[in-house]
Amino acid sequence: MFLIFGTGRPGGRHLNRKVYAIRDFLPIWVSRWRRSHDAGHVVLALSILILPGCSGPQSALEPAGHAAQGIAEIFWWMTAGGIVIWIAVIALTIYAVRTPPEAHSQRRTSYFIIGGGAVVPTIVLTGLLIYGLAPLPALLAPAPEGSLKIFVSGEQWWWRVRYQTSDGEPVVLANEIRLPVDEPVEFRLESPDVIHSFWIPSLGGKIDMIPGRVTRLALTPTKTGVFRGSCAEYCGTSHALMSFYVVVHEKEDFARWLAHQQTLARPPDAPLAARGRELFLASGCGACHTIRGTPANGIIGPDLTHVGSRLSIGAGALPNNAEALLRWIARTEHVKPEVLMPAFGMLPQEELQALAMYLEGLK
Ligand code: CUA
Repeated sequence: MFLIFGTGRPGGRHLNRKVYAIRDFLPIWVSRWRRSHDAGHVVLALSILILPGCSGPQSALEPAGHAAQGIAEIFWWMTAGGIVIWIAVIALTIYAVRTPPEAHSQRRTSYFIIGGGAVVPTIVLTGLLIYGLAPLPALLAPAPEGSLKIFVSGEQWWWRVRYQTSDGEPVVLANEIRLPVDEPVEFRLESPDVIHSFWIPSLGGKIDMIPGRVTRLALTPTKTGVFRGSCAEYCGTSHALMSFYVVVHEKEDFARWLAHQQTLARPPDAPLAARGRELFLASGCGACHTIRGTPANGIIGPDLTHVGSRLSIGAGALPNNAEALLRWIARTEHVKPEVLMPAFGMLPQEELQALAMYLEGLK
């Protein structure tokens, strides 16, 4: 910009030449660009850039929680401010290109440069900084005393989720969080090895999960529905395959769900599923996984007591059905590179089917 506006200064003759260059070449650049990009392509490209982040279960622009609402407001005000500044800069550019060069007074030019280059940006950026920082204390405030507490641990690459229940009975699950609507909830977040970042864009801001520390995040969902969270910090090979679902229920439905999660795993009815249970226990799966109500009590991998009731497996990597479970068990490494769980593709197909059927039935 100052290259263009600086040309009016006395003695700026070589800069004048640059303005002529821009004026001469601008129409040629525009017409060349038009020839190579028809309108349809332009609209498509803009839509691809703009639209995907605007809605859906993982959009910060479609808030379903108090904190997310505040963050979305900041985003829209900043976007509006950015648009106003952009229009002003473009208007000045057009003015500079179209106005015949003439000598300006040294004083006016200096005022313009100091005002436009230092004073206005300082005022605008200071205002935005204050506006952007003001909501932080509220966003980082702890949840009120007695709020529901959920402990989440970021593992490589999945989420261990534990609810603190009033009667002390454990509710442990993986890659899925269920919440009651309009109730504040406090997340206590940690990680045993590497840094992850816990983020449910529809409900609020993100926060790091740091080994050796417990970070806290208070959220209040305001809408029921299914939302998606993800890890927002690179944490290893399968970082991109580390997401989870958040289901926000009416209060009574949430209480019913939590009570059901406390129950022990239901013994299988179908003979094939019963065979799957036998295989699960005989193949050593219980060394890493817990299924409450069976001898399996491993803690390295996800608790599978009610795995069949979850929306996904492998931390959002696959939908939850028998076919996907079979694929996960047989070809784990293909679904999630460098995952700790070994693949069991050496088992006969019939045994894999039995295992998948058993796990799918753990509702
Ligand atoms: Cu965990 Cu990225």
